[in-house]
Amino acid sequence: MSLLKVRNLFVDFSTPDGTVHAVTDVSFDISKGETLAIVGESGSGKSQIVFAAMGLLADNGRARGEVLFEERNLLSLSPSDLNKVRANDIAMIFQDPMTSLNPYMRVSEQMTEVLVLHKGMSKSAAYTESLRMLDAVKIPDARSVIRRYPHECSGGMRQRIMIAMSLLCHPKLLIADEPTTALDVTVQAQIMHLLNEIQKEFGTAIILITHDLAVVAGSCENTLVLYGGRVLEYGRTVDLFKSPAQPYTKGLLSALPRLDTDGEQLHTIPGNPPNMMLDVRGCPFEPRCPYRRPECAETMPDLVRFQDDRLRACHVAFEDLQ
Ligand SMILES: Nc1ncnc2c1ncn2[C@@H]1O[C@H](COP(=O)(O)OP(=O)(O)O)[C@@H](O)[C@H]1O
Ligand SMILES: [Mg+2]
Repeated sequence: MSLLKVRNLFVDFSTPDGTVHAVTDVSFDISKGETLAIVGESGSGKSQIVFAAMGLLADNGRARGEVLFEERNLLSLSPSDLNKVRANDIAMIFQDPMTSLNPYMRVSEQMTEVLVLHKGMSKSAAYTESLRMLDAVKIPDARSVIRRYPHECSGGMRQRIMIAMSLLCHPKLLIADEPTTALDVTVQAQIMHLLNEIQKEFGTAIILITHDLAVVAGSCENTLVLYGGRVLEYGRTVDLFKSPAQPYTKGLLSALPRLDTDGEQLHTIPGNPPNMMLDVRGCPFEPRCPYRRPECAETMPDLVRFQDDRLRACHVAFEDLQ
């Protein structure tokens, strides 16, 4: 059963220079306890998908389509109903924990406040539960950390505190938007490991947003590849790594640092990300695609199912990409 169903989601922004098409016709599902990665270069529309779902779009943004969470369309909920869902069922963590943590409050105060406000807990019960969550995210010496202010904690520690805070209300869905980008590689690996443990222990579904495919391998069951606001490929992460079915996915994979080379021939995908202001008729990746054909500039390929549970949008035959 799907926990979240996104159906034909579009996000447009009005600007003085014209309309920015940030998200175009995006559909996907995530089931209970599943881990889904949304990957794509910076500017591909990843954040706006979840901002639209959570009612957090900038004032000049407009979303249409459906975002069904347990069959209720989040896009048409009243602000107070949406607030309830956000407080109880869906939690978000961001790249920079300082945007979510209050610098003027001790960790204990901000954590207990959530439980007192949303769960009606007593202060002392809330304190005990907050400590338990700090333990759950493997913060050493939680009893001392809980008394600190955010600036008295390291970057990795703050990220863990934010994850602990987001878990306080036992959300069914945790959305992590580039949660590790600002962290060094070792801490990144620890945080990913932690998210996986949380998913197992609490049965939380996780959407991990990242521009870095390396973070996805081994940590997410399924992957959605986004480019120019459109879904170009979707499937099990292992399948996607083994046999990418879209030239853009191939490009992302070849840009990964490899263990078996000395790192000098690291590829980047030539060309620039698309101008989201243009009304593109064809595939948004066409101008940069080494496999492009005349029809690619003319029509956007449909997102079609193949190999049972994979989806791809590409005019080039799957076999020709292998
Ligand atoms: N308030 C806004 N006004 C105009 N364009 C915006 C606004 N917010 C985001 N965008 C544009 O939407 C596109 C997608 O952005 P985003 O989803 O944030 O990308 P990312 O994949 O890096 O998370 C980008 O081209 C961005 O410039
Ligand atoms: Mg983003």
